[in-house]
Amino acid sequence: MNPVNFLIGSILSLFPRWLVKPFAKPYVAGETMGVALDHIKSLNGKGFAATVDILGEHVESKKEAHSITMDYLDILDAIYEKGLDCNLSIKPTHIGLDVGYETAKENLFMLLEKASDTKNFIRIDMENTPYTDASIKLYLEALIQFSNVGPVIQAYLHRSPDDIKRLNGEKLNVRICKGIYKESEHHAIQSGSRINEQYLELVKMILNGNGYVAIATHDISLVDATDKWITSNNIPKDRFEFQILYGVPMGGKLEELLAKGYTVRQYVPFGEEWFDYSVRRLKENPKIITYVLKNMFRS
Ligand code: FDA
Repeated sequence: MNPVNFLIGSILSLFPRWLVKPFAKPYVAGETMGVALDHIKSLNGKGFAATVDILGEHVESKKEAHSITMDYLDILDAIYEKGLDCNLSIKPTHIGLDVGYETAKENLFMLLEKASDTKNFIRIDMENTPYTDASIKLYLEALIQFSNVGPVIQAYLHRSPDDIKRLNGEKLNVRICKGIYKESEHHAIQSGSRINEQYLELVKMILNGNGYVAIATHDISLVDATDKWITSNNIPKDRFEFQILYGVPMGGKLEELLAKGYTVRQYVPFGEEWFDYSVRRLKENPKIITYVLKNMFRS
């Protein structure tokens, strides 16, 4: 990694917002719902499905959690009215899990009612390990009443094969990702190659069963390995999709997947809380900084 990029990525969180904003732009679809939905319309026009997320997490009051829930309800209405191919991704602590389990459950169920009325689907994002059990419980309780809901399982957690065994079945629609949070050895595999092995194992477990899997990764070798297995096992295209975070460069891979007739969904975050999210993205891939600088000086 270029040491200058690495250094800029590391100190970015100390910079003022106006300075970080140009670097944030590729990763965040604006600050308002209207702008985000315009981006989603344009993605749909290029053949991509989307999942939309309001940036933010860990709200501390019932009132805030309710207000975020109302914003998500508005988005569901707008998606329906505009006929967009877009579902929702929601963090449990954004709709009140830190306030209390019942608060998050009440808000999630309100969203699922509306999502059912507007023929939509809600993905429950997975946060760090203090929230894993509660997030899976929310999913399982929701599944009793609703079918338009799915969890996320992180490939780096030791527990994940057991979780997939427990959840596997025709009702399962799960996103598999590597896992973004810093977790101890006690909870998570630390070796990158072992995480990739477990990732592939989890995908196989789901597809050897009856579930649907969203393969969420920017790791091209992993995309290729899953695609190879899917092809050689004649897995039908309606059993899986690929997912990436909006703005992460994939060097033509997405268009290749679309050309094969696969569903490719982009995770589109928006909102006023873009700063922390963008700094995290830039730390993960400081190469972006060079692209943005080149573009800034070109125009
Ligand atoms: P890996 O980290 O090996 O990266 C592969 C390549 O992509 C590297 O070259 C890297 O630089 C680049 N890259 C990866 N991520 C990047 C980024 N964000 N910005 C710029 N470049 C990047 N995690 C979680 O814990 N809970 C969740 O609910 C979700 N949800 C989720 C949804 C979707 C659609 C995606 C794509 C990812 C998530 N994640 C997540 C994040 C996930 O767990 C993981 O941390 C990141 O995607 C990075 O891992 P990769 O699989 O991309 O591989």
